[in-house]
Amino acid sequence: MCGIVGYVGHKEAAPILLKGLHQLEYRGYDSAGVALTGEGLSSISVFKAKGKVANLEEKVNAALGKSGQMLTTGIGHTRWATHGEPSEVNAHPHLSMSGDLALVHNGIIENYQLLKEQLSGHGYEFKSETDTEVLVQLIDYFYQKNGKNLAKAVSQALNKVIGAYAIVVMERNDPGHLVAARKASPLVIGIGEENSEFFIGSDASPLVEYTHKVVYLEDEQIADIRMGEDVEIMNLDETSADLNIKDVDFDISALSKGGYPHFMLKEIFEQPHCIKNSMRGRIIQHENGLYEIKLSALTNFKAKLIRARHVIIVACGTSWHAGLIGKQLIEEMCRISVDVEYASEFRYRKPVIDKDDVVIAISQSGETADTLAAIQLAKEQGALIFGIVNSVGSSIARESDTGIYIHVGPEIGVASTKAFTGQVTVLTMLSLAIANAIGSMGEEEFQRTCEELVRIPQKMEKVLGQNETIERMSNKFTYAKNFLYLGRGYNYPVALEGALKLKEISYIHAEGYPAAEMKHGPIALVDEEMPIVCIATHHHLYHKIISNMQEVKSRKGRILAIVTEGDEEVKAIAEDVIEVPATQNCLVPLLSVLPMQMLAYHVAVKKGLNVDMPRNLAKSVTVE
Ligand code: AGP
Ligand code: GLU
Repeated sequence: MCGIVGYVGHKEAAPILLKGLHQLEYRGYDSAGVALTGEGLSSISVFKAKGKVANLEEKVNAALGKSGQMLTTGIGHTRWATHGEPSEVNAHPHLSMSGDLALVHNGIIENYQLLKEQLSGHGYEFKSETDTEVLVQLIDYFYQKNGKNLAKAVSQALNKVIGAYAIVVMERNDPGHLVAARKASPLVIGIGEENSEFFIGSDASPLVEYTHKVVYLEDEQIADIRMGEDVEIMNLDETSADLNIKDVDFDISALSKGGYPHFMLKEIFEQPHCIKNSMRGRIIQHENGLYEIKLSALTNFKAKLIRARHVIIVACGTSWHAGLIGKQLIEEMCRISVDVEYASEFRYRKPVIDKDDVVIAISQSGETADTLAAIQLAKEQGALIFGIVNSVGSSIARESDTGIYIHVGPEIGVASTKAFTGQVTVLTMLSLAIANAIGSMGEEEFQRTCEELVRIPQKMEKVLGQNETIERMSNKFTYAKNFLYLGRGYNYPVALEGALKLKEISYIHAEGYPAAEMKHGPIALVDEEMPIVCIATHHHLYHKIISNMQEVKSRKGRILAIVTEGDEEVKAIAEDVIEVPATQNCLVPLLSVLPMQMLAYHVAVKKGLNVDMPRNLAKSVTVE
C-alpha cells in the first residue's frame, strides 16, 4: 500500500508535497495526486495523474505557475490500486461531493460496498470505483451533520469502517487544519519549529529534512493538527491520548527499505502483514465463531466455477510453483482435476481446452507476456479466465473474466517472496470456498482449516524469528556450487521454489526434486560437498522422507532439514535443522517456504551480490 504526504504551515505546500512523493516512489505505485488550498481561498484544488509522480509534477507546476495564489496546505498520495484500476479518476486525493473535504488513503475499506449503498441513500454520488471515495463521503456525511467538526466527523466515520487505513483529510473552510488517522497502515507526523508547520508521511523519509521531531501515530488514533497549536491525539472514542514526540535521526536510504538492508528482506518480513491483507474481508468469522469465505469472484461466477470439471493453471516461475500447490489444494478439497502448465509452453501447444474449463492465470506483475498469451489462447476457446494477480488493473487482470487480487502491496525485490505466499493464501481460500459450495469438504474440516489459516500469520512470525540462526547457517554454504532441494506432497513445489530463490539471487545452481526421485538419478550427485535442503515436516509421507534423508546421509551429503517444531528424529540425521510450527498439511507451504527465502537471501548477501536486482533478471518479464 503506497505513499501519503501532508503539509500545513507558512510555506508553499506543492514543492514540499511533490518532493515527498518522490521520496516515497520506492514503495511502488501506479498513479499520484495532490490537493492544495490556502488562506482566503474558497475551494480545494486537486491535481492527479496516472503513472509517475513526474507526470503530476508537470500538471501542478503548469497550473500554479500562472495562479500566484499562496497554497500553504496540502495532501499528496501515490496509489497502489486495490479497488478500481489505475486511472486519473481513481487516483487520490478524493473530494467530498460538497467540495468541503479532500482525503488521501492507504489501505482497504472492507465494508465499502455497504457504506456506499447507505450513502447513496442519502443522496451521495460517486465518481470513482474506489473504496476510498466512500470514506471521504462518509466523513462528509458526519461533517455536515455535526456542525463541520472535522476531527469528530473522522471519528464518527471510522467507527463505521472495517478495514485498514492511513488517512489525511483537509477542509476547504479551515486551511490551517489537517486531521490524520491510522489503523494497520503507518503514518508519521513531523513537527516544525514552535508548531509553526507540520509535515505528514507514510514513513519519515519525506519529513527528515525539515524536522527530527516526529509522532508515530498508533493504531486507531486520530491526530488533530492545527498550525500554531500542539497536535491533539485522540482515540476513536474521542478520548484523548498521549502525544509521544520522538527525536529521530534518519538515514534516508535505509528508510526507503523500512530500515532493512534490502527490499527482499523487508518483503520477507512483511509476509505476516501481507497475508492478513490477502485474507482481509474474505475470511469472515461470525459472532457464533463460525467462518465464512466471501470471494466476489465466486458470487459472480459461482455456477461456472463449481460446475468446472477441469482446471488449467498457467503461470511462470515462482507463480508456477504456487500453481503446483493450487493443484493439490483444488484436487484434494474440490475433487476437480487440475493441470499446471508453464505458460511459455502452453501458448505454443495445441492444448485441449473445453468451453467448460476454467483457466487460472497466476501472476504477481500481471504483465508476464507468456502468461498473457496463454490466457488469450484459452479465451479464444471459450474457457473462463480466472486471474490471481497482485497488480490491480494490469493486463492479465483486465484480460481475466474474474479473479482475486492478492493484495500484498508492491513487490520491489526481483525475487518473489510475499507474492508467493499471497498467491498460495488466495488459492487456499478459493479452494475452500469452492469445496464448501459444492459440498466436497465436510463443514468441520472447512471450519478447522479456516481457523488454522487465520493463525498462519502469527506462525509465520515464529519462523521469521529464526532469521539470525539461518544467517549463521548460511555462512557454511557460500562455497557450494550445487544444491539439492527435496520435498514431498505439498512440500515438493516448495522445494522447487527454494531452489529457484537460491539460483536467482546467489547464482549457485540448485535443483528441486520430489524426494522419492533421488534414487532415480540425482543421488549420483551426492557427496560431502553437496548441501541438500530437505523439507521433512510432519505429514503422512514423513517416514518416507526420513528414508530419503538416510540415503543421502549414507553418501555423506550435508543435510539442512526443515522440520515440525519438536522433531527429535531428524536432528539425529541432519547437520542443521530449522523448525516451523505444526499446522495442517495443506498450509505447510506458507511456513516451510520462509526458511528457503531467508537462506537464499543470506547466502547471496554473504556472496556480496545484488540481492534486489540480480543479474540478467527483470521484475516483470513482459517480453517472450
Ligand atoms: C521469481 O522469484 C522470479 N522473479 C520469476 O520467476 C517470476 O516469478 C516470474 O517471472 C513470473 O512473474 P509474474 O508472477 O509477475 O507473472
Ligand atoms: N484502497 C485504496 C484504492 O484502491 C487505496 C490503495 C492504496 O493503498 O494506495 O484506491
